[in-house]
Amino acid sequence: MQIAPARGKLGVLLVGLGAVATTTIAGVCAIRKGLAPPIGSLTQMGTVRLGKRTEGRSPKINDFVPLADLNDIVFGGWDIFQEDCYSAARTAGVLETAQLDKVRGELEAIRPMPAVFDQRYVKRLNGPNVKKGKNKRDLAEQLIADIRGFKEKHGCDRLVMVWTGSTEVYMKEAPVHASIATFEKGLEQSDDAIPSSMIYAYAALREGLPFANAAPNLTADVPAMLELAARTGAPVAGNDMKTGQTLMKTIIAPGLKARLLGVRGWYSTNILGNRDGEVLDDPESFKTKEESKKSALDYIFQPHLYPELYKDLCHVVRINYYPPRGDNKEGWDNIDLIGWLGYPMQLKINFLCRDSILAAPIVVDSALFLDLAKRAGMSGIQEWLSFYFKAPMHAREVYPEHDLFIQLMKLKNTLRHMQGEELITHLGREYYD
Ligand SMILES: NC(=O)c1ccc[n+]([C@@H]2O[C@H](COP(=O)([O-])OP(=O)(O)OC[C@H]3O[C@@H](n4cnc5c(N)ncnc54)[C@H](O)[C@@H]3O)[C@@H](O)[C@H]2O)c1
Repeated sequence: MQIAPARGKLGVLLVGLGAVATTTIAGVCAIRKGLAPPIGSLTQMGTVRLGKRTEGRSPKINDFVPLADLNDIVFGGWDIFQEDCYSAARTAGVLETAQLDKVRGELEAIRPMPAVFDQRYVKRLNGPNVKKGKNKRDLAEQLIADIRGFKEKHGCDRLVMVWTGSTEVYMKEAPVHASIATFEKGLEQSDDAIPSSMIYAYAALREGLPFANAAPNLTADVPAMLELAARTGAPVAGNDMKTGQTLMKTIIAPGLKARLLGVRGWYSTNILGNRDGEVLDDPESFKTKEESKKSALDYIFQPHLYPELYKDLCHVVRINYYPPRGDNKEGWDNIDLIGWLGYPMQLKINFLCRDSILAAPIVVDSALFLDLAKRAGMSGIQEWLSFYFKAPMHAREVYPEHDLFIQLMKLKNTLRHMQGEELITHLGREYYD
């Protein structure tokens, strides 16, 4: 596979400069200065085994495939609030002030461009830094002008866009999403089934930018967007980053399933006090999140293949907005298991995590891998990036792959494939024949 080199600067445009985005940006600035390690990032710390186990070849991923260097990234973005990235990071309250102060200059230089926003899609938010336009098409054109202006101003060679904005209200695919033609007509008529996030995705894809969706919104996961991505050669990935509780779920559930342990119930609850928690306190935004969070177990357990183990699974997910916790979410899971002869057991998980600390490396990795995909001529859904998402985008004719370990194998095999290395099947007969 021919991969163009990662020459020049890569602009990473983040829609929504909140907790996740500012933790990502401040983190990259700190890492560039050698002030902190990029823990959690496969592109920065991961390795990939090549050839046989006897060969001892395990290069770092970023030595193996030509990824953009963190030093070549320029960040920008949009938000409905005018605060620069330093103040926004202070508001988010994820990183310590002393740490932010070490990269304060870089953060203050990043000021959000006025957003495309409509409160009907995020009920709990409102802000002043919002574009006006005569219809949604006009707003999309304004975003395209922003993208071009940013590229020019910062001398970027390439750009990537990641939606790190709030979770929008639940929405199902509608006739307006069916094709580029219906969608563009819908933009002209400001169709209600086109939320703000879709206007950004449209602008990115029209410009051929890779696009990732870190939230559970429908956004780029509709036929019109995929048609556009194919036309402009843009890779896409999403939806909803797999971070706290769902990450644990997709680590533990494949293990239980591998040993054919039955599961009768999985009760998950969270307390969360950041702005994301506040947005998710609105039932319509929560519904979007709930759908995304609930899908993983059904696909991992395959109840149609193992009805006696998983058919009656009762899966409940709750998120409670609890301000004192800020970004330091706490999640509890109670899992009711059944073993040999049907005897019941229980497993309890109490995860005291930091939401944005888990999310930031995913934003970095998905931006860098999407840029790689673009340079490798890969467009449309990048299923190999399912590893990072709670509700992975997938071709209509296949079910999504949720098992974290299969996802990782798929990701690394894709890297091997890109570089013409042998794929690893884990068969391993050759060591014994
Ligand atoms: N671990 C995690 O933190 C995690 C995991 C998975 C998904 N997510 C999702 O990532 C998103 C961001 O999470 P967060 O914790 O940073 O939330 P946040 O509330 O701190 O940040 C979101 C930002 O988006 C802005 N925004 C909303 N609509 C916008 C629009 N139309 N245009 C521009 N800006 C807009 C808001 O003003 C806010 O600053 C949420 O949708 C969340 O559900 C987060």
